[in-house]
Amino acid sequence: MIPAATPAPDDIRLGEPEFWLRSRVDRERAFATLRRERPISFHQEPEVPGLGRGPGFWSLTRHADVLEASRNGQLFSSARGGVNMVDQPDFFAELFGSMIVMDDPRHARLRRIVSSGFTPTQLRNVMTGVERAAVEIVDAIVDRGRCDLVNDIAAMLPLKIICDMMGIPASEYRYVFDRTNVILGATDPEYVADLTQAIPAILQAGQELATVAEDLAAFREKQPTDDLTSALIRAEIDGERLTKQEIGSFFVLLTVAGNETTRNAISHGVKALSDHPEQRRRWMDDFETVAPTAVEEIVRWATPVIHFRRTATADTTIAGQPIRAGEKVIMWYCSANRDEAVFDAPARFDVTRTPNDHVGFGGPGPHFCLGAQLARREITVMFRELFRRLPDLEVVGEPAYLASNFINGIKRLPCEFTPGGGRRT
Ligand code: HEM
Repeated sequence: MIPAATPAPDDIRLGEPEFWLRSRVDRERAFATLRRERPISFHQEPEVPGLGRGPGFWSLTRHADVLEASRNGQLFSSARGGVNMVDQPDFFAELFGSMIVMDDPRHARLRRIVSSGFTPTQLRNVMTGVERAAVEIVDAIVDRGRCDLVNDIAAMLPLKIICDMMGIPASEYRYVFDRTNVILGATDPEYVADLTQAIPAILQAGQELATVAEDLAAFREKQPTDDLTSALIRAEIDGERLTKQEIGSFFVLLTVAGNETTRNAISHGVKALSDHPEQRRRWMDDFETVAPTAVEEIVRWATPVIHFRRTATADTTIAGQPIRAGEKVIMWYCSANRDEAVFDAPARFDVTRTPNDHVGFGGPGPHFCLGAQLARREITVMFRELFRRLPDLEVVGEPAYLASNFINGIKRLPCEFTPGGGRRT
């Protein structure tokens, strides 16, 4: 384990994989240094087997600067090279080319169609499913007295919800789950043992997921229902229907964006409440009143998505720093969400924090998280169920963290509770 220390700005190398193996404390200290001493700095990219090393990127660490890049989709493109540190290779486009890596007007058109699955009425139907799913998930483990919070609970809820929304049957849940793990966990040896195989592994997992959606779409074409897949088949952009491939890549986006994020918010939330028992008591004592602020604080605290990237489309400046056309700009949500200029005592976990202008769901702008309302609801329902049924649930071991500069993931979190559900502590 690399010891925690306050690093000099020149020694902080955000592009190096080793940085992302450091402890959370160590990383937060490094970002605090950058916010204070060098809020916008240039970094080398990692060497990626098969792709080489890209040209490097500007790092935005302050909340205000993240907001500026996020708001201005014309000047800061999501389409040029994608939204991660390393450019998305062209051969990824077919599977991973959905709206998150498009600019307006194409992005806006697709978002409008897809939003039809996220209207308040559609979501109301989904919400009933969320509550039922949370009960079933706890039913499955309540008598055991112990569980792995991530795989037995936190991962199950978003998985069921996304699959139900799309119309994917329960028999395919595990298949979908394993493939989203590979796509976002490919830099972790647990999911892809040989780093040189990461790209082929991501492509294969993406292809397999897309095929699930394409097969279902072919079926729904003949027998439509009220699921999102049927809505996507019917939808038209400027008189044109979505192609089979567009439906496939949207499904890949939705499963990855909806699963890997919400599950980590719930897992980090359980860990944070276990580390701060007074906050847990505060929330349990008055669940419904505290829930809205507690959920926002969990998303801020966890920051499940560590960064997204943009590419400048013209020469510009951010906070006085010249950025040239074609240069990459990374918005570090993990840092913006700890910015002392915006958050009072940012290192304090406070379930009643108000205001809480976090950027956990992205900054304001065209790509703000489409699933934010759904995610908030899933987190609320899961904690209500956990508090009600497993009130003495306790974390009994260290979390196994995902090795990634993109997803703040927990792979496993051992927990114990009184079998059958105990009394609250
Ligand atoms: C706690 C849970 C979640 C977090 C932290 C999260 C985070 C984010 C972030 C940071 C973005 C911004 C991307 C950008 O600016 O480039 C985003 C976009 C998106 N999210 Fe989420 N998300 C969550 C849950 C969900 C869920 C449940 C769904 C769907 C069911 C979803 C679907 C999407 C989609 C489709 C986009 C792309 C929107 C666009 O490009 O217009 N997310 N999310």
